[in-house]
Amino acid sequence: MKRLRLGILASGRGSNLQAIIDSIDEGKLDAVIQVVISDNRRAQALNRAVARGIPAVCIDPQRFPDKITFEQKVLQELQKRQVELVVLAGFMRLLGPDLISAYPHRIINIHPSLLPAFPGLEAQRQALDYGVKYSGCTVHFVDAGMDTGPIIAQAVVPVKADDTVESLAERILTEEHKLFPQVIQWIAQGRVTVEGRKVVIK
Ligand code: GRF
Repeated sequence: MKRLRLGILASGRGSNLQAIIDSIDEGKLDAVIQVVISDNRRAQALNRAVARGIPAVCIDPQRFPDKITFEQKVLQELQKRQVELVVLAGFMRLLGPDLISAYPHRIINIHPSLLPAFPGLEAQRQALDYGVKYSGCTVHFVDAGMDTGPIIAQAVVPVKADDTVESLAERILTEEHKLFPQVIQWIAQGRVTVEGRKVVIK
């Protein structure tokens, strides 16, 4: 079976990247990671890629005059490696129009809340501060907004009375590691279509 060619963008720890690698290794995900790109040379995600022999590229935004030229370089790397699906796995930047239009409905992100609640930074803290009883994670297509694109799938977790940001984040992360590879597999199988804001999984 043909494997979906992934380009993964990550800024930090890379536990979602690891979950994707593991799913591929376990034969649950018909994909191949063509490249891992980070905007942060200290990102553990880069080490995880190197450890598996996956091409790992750091593109330091400070070495570019502006966001447009930085993103041109990112796009070049993705296209050079014939990436079909761009996966944002803890990538801490909003994407600009050039990248987004180069991959229409072919860029996905994971966010640690039930969107549209609590977009942006510190979603778990926002959820705790608000006092919700359930939170979770969302995988969505990326558009120009902050965590605003069409929602592909969500997983729900309870919020416990004695939760801290860390304990809630950990409970959500366990679900992230299942949901993200699952969604990528649906896309690899050609089962995901978008109609306006509605995403249909066949
Ligand atoms: C995750 O919580 C993800 O939802 C958010 O950033 C975090 C990345 O974690 N977008 P990791 O780098 O995959 O461990």
